[in-house]
Formats: sequence, structure tokens, C-alpha cells
Amino acid sequence: MRICVVMAMHAEAEPVVEMLGLRAVDRPPWASHVPMRLYEGKTRTNTIDLVVNGLDPDTGIDCIGTQAATASTMLGCEAFAPDLVVSAGTCGGFACRGGEIGTVYLAHDRVWYHDRRVPLPGFDRFSRGGYPCLPLDSIADDLGFSSGVISTGDSLDLSPADARRIDEVGAHVKDMEAAAVAWIAGLFGAKFTAVKVVTDLVDGPHPTEQEFLENLSMATDRLAEALTRFLREISDADLKGSAPA
Ligand code: ADE
Repeated sequence: MRICVVMAMHAEAEPVVEMLGLRAVDRPPWASHVPMRLYEGKTRTNTIDLVVNGLDPDTGIDCIGTQAATASTMLGCEAFAPDLVVSAGTCGGFACRGGEIGTVYLAHDRVWYHDRRVPLPGFDRFSRGGYPCLPLDSIADDLGFSSGVISTGDSLDLSPADARRIDEVGAHVKDMEAAAVAWIAGLFGAKFTAVKVVTDLVDGPHPTEQEFLENLSMATDRLAEALTRFLREISDADLKGSAPA
């Protein structure tokens, strides 16, 4: 099958590129002035296109968050018509729901937004997201990953209103891209999943940014190993699972 992987940070993507032996594509099939970078390669049964959000030309830092994730996924889906789109990266976890630093999560059930609040008829549901994930709990079990509900927002910190939303959906994972990637994947009729590794515990005692930086290198190594195993394991037969009702 054809799989488009979308990642936000170069630090997250580099170990993946190395472990999967991906090749950098000098001229991706999109406008040269957008920062999105492309790597390609194959496993025994799958063709992999990895789109990395790239660097913001103004600040020179990685384009994290839903804005760039939407653009990257759009470019990847238009160029490659993938069967499956994977949002891969690091995340915050929740000790109260069994999360630990380094836990590897595969997306479970649906992916939500926790920072879009529009209390108007119709817009409320649209704002919350709730995009379906391919049911892959048995692959998670086989690979020794945890299955987790993901909630996405554009801030590293956690406001009380965001925390209420996260509790409503019982999220195990707090990230900054997955829901945006899932929305575009759905528009293109592609299946969606996410592989996320915990760098920091949202409900732990340490400041998030400090814990994130301390654990980033360990988490990106774990992510590369987990994503490589996942991309080698997943096959066409796994695409047949139905979306959550
Ligand atoms: N990525 C890593 N840690 C995160 C957190 N706490 N919130 C959102 N995204 C993250």
C-alpha cells in the first residue's frame, strides 16, 4: 500500500529517515517556496512518502502545529493519493490514564481538538473534530504499543478549558498535529492513524517545556524504532477495518 507519513520536527524525522533508509527528494512535486520537505522509500510491501513540515522562513524554526500539518497533509495527499496517512511525532501523556515518559501510542477510536470552542449550532461539532482512526488495536498489541485516544491543540501548555475537553474524551495523548492530519486524510478518502511517543506528562509535577527538552532525544529514538516496525508490519488486510461508529 502507499503510506504518507506526516511529521512536524526535523529532530523527530531524522532518526526515522535513517532507520528506514529513506531518500531525500530534492524537488518535491509542489511549489519550491513552501517549506515542506519530502523523503521517500519502501518497505517489503509498502511505499512510504514522508512529508516533514520544514522550517518557517521567518523564524527558522520547525513549523509545528495544525496550520503546517494541514498544508503538509494536503500536499502529500494530492501528490501521492495514499491509502493510509500516519501522523507521527512526540506528545504529552497522562499519568492518570497510565501514560509514562517513552510510552508509544497507536491512535485509538477518534482524534479530537481540545482548543477550538465555538458554541454555535453545528459549529460546535465541527470545532471538536472527532475524526475516525483505523482500528489497529491488535497491531498495537502485537507490537507492544499502547492504544490511545488523541487530542490536538496548538499550544504546548494546558489551559483549564483545554483540560476539560481532554477529560471529556478521555485522551491519552496531547499533541499538536494529529487532528489536522486526520481531517485532510478523510477528505481524500484515505485511512488515518498516528504513532506518538510521550516526552512529558501533562499531569506530572515537572514543567512541560523542561520535560519535553530533556526527553526529546530518547523519544525520537523510540519513535523511529516504533514507526519503522509499524510501517513494516501494516499490510493491505489491515485497511479493511471499519471506522468507529
Ligand atoms: N508534544 C510533546 N509534548 C506535548 C504536549 N505536552 N502538548 C502538546 N504537544 C506535545
